Amino acid sequence: MNRGEPTLEALQRKVRAQEKTIEVLMRRVEDGFAHRDGAFAIMEESLDLQRVVDRKTAQLAEEHQRLEKAHYDLRRAQAQLLQAQKMESIGQLAAGIAHEINTPTQYVSDNVVFVQRACRSLVELVELALTAQGPEAAPLHEKAKALRYPFLREQLPKAIEQAAEGLRRVGSIVGAMKDFSHPSADRREPVDLRECITTTVTVARNEWKYVADIQTTFDEELAPVPCLRDQINQVLLNLIVNAAHAIAEQRPAGGELGHIDISTRRAPPWAEIRIKDDGGGIPEAIRPRIFDPFFTTKPVGKGTGQGLAIAYSVMVERHHGEIDFESELGVGTTFILRLPLRLPEEVR
Ligand SMILES: Nc1ncnc2c1ncn2[C@@H]1O[C@H](COP(=O)(O)OP(=O)(O)OP(=O)(O)O)[C@@H](O)[C@H]1O
Ligand SMILES: [Mg+2]
Repeated sequence: MNRGEPTLEALQRKVRAQEKTIEVLMRRVEDGFAHRDGAFAIMEESLDLQRVVDRKTAQLAEEHQRLEKAHYDLRRAQAQLLQAQKMESIGQLAAGIAHEINTPTQYVSDNVVFVQRACRSLVELVELALTAQGPEAAPLHEKAKALRYPFLREQLPKAIEQAAEGLRRVGSIVGAMKDFSHPSADRREPVDLRECITTTVTVARNEWKYVADIQTTFDEELAPVPCLRDQINQVLLNLIVNAAHAIAEQRPAGGELGHIDISTRRAPPWAEIRIKDDGGGIPEAIRPRIFDPFFTTKPVGKGTGQGLAIAYSVMVERHHGEIDFESELGVGTTFILRLPLRLPEEVR
């Protein structure tokens, strides 16, 4: 809530006082009827009082509205704060775990590279040995046959290559986790949006891999954009998860995968990110409400209705940017994020 706005309690006190005034006025009207002589005097007084009552009632309705708004703002601020705190502690935890995984992964990778080279050399040695003929070489040939040497020669390098590939994947996930959870300490720095998107896609992989393929297309002309990296990551994560949910709702589990396309574009004065899904689309009737805090169509436990409210506040309030969407029922939805290429004077 902004400073200078009345607190919730102050508004509640004011409303109670107004109600009291109306009560007293009503009693006076009734008393007037009971004790005053002269129909005209009674009528005049009652008209005066009626006007006061009307004015007070209107004021009361206004106070009620303000009270409701204050209550709503308070709930919203509370929910956003909670979400921010949760994200911060998850971020710290993730950064810690990423660091812990990084060290053993490093030496396992080094050893795999060593084994790969050593294996190549050993195969060369065995090949050479197997060229030997004659009775002395017979045990060597027998052993090679017993050990199924041709199979080993073929499969060993493949197995090592797969292990190396697995480790590269672990490395990129750990790197993405570290990047993703790295707080930007409220400082706007030039950020490469390609990196933000790649990192977030990697971190959110578990949310989308069973329901969709993700394709990214980046505009090479787009230079780094000044923004709060962790907050933009947060927005991207919310939109990717929403897209995956929308697709999952449409398709039977285990069926054909849907598509999420993420692209960047330089469109002065904006840097634009589009996240397009082929889910069911957003019904016309709920479109005006999707950015409202707590608005969700998902079952309890799956959605809190915070994702888009947070995305809106990050894009519009914190970054002087825009968030918009286009949607067609049965075809899909595209969310469009716009960040200013240059920061406005007042936030620089
Ligand atoms: N890509 C989309 N396709 C279809 N509907 C969407 C899409 N994104 C959002 N919506 C609709 O907007 C609603 C609000 O989204 P929002 O991200 O704010 O909350 P949520 O996803 O329901 O919950 P939360 O993000 O807090 O877990 C969703 O419940 C859904 O009905
Ligand atoms: Mg959501």
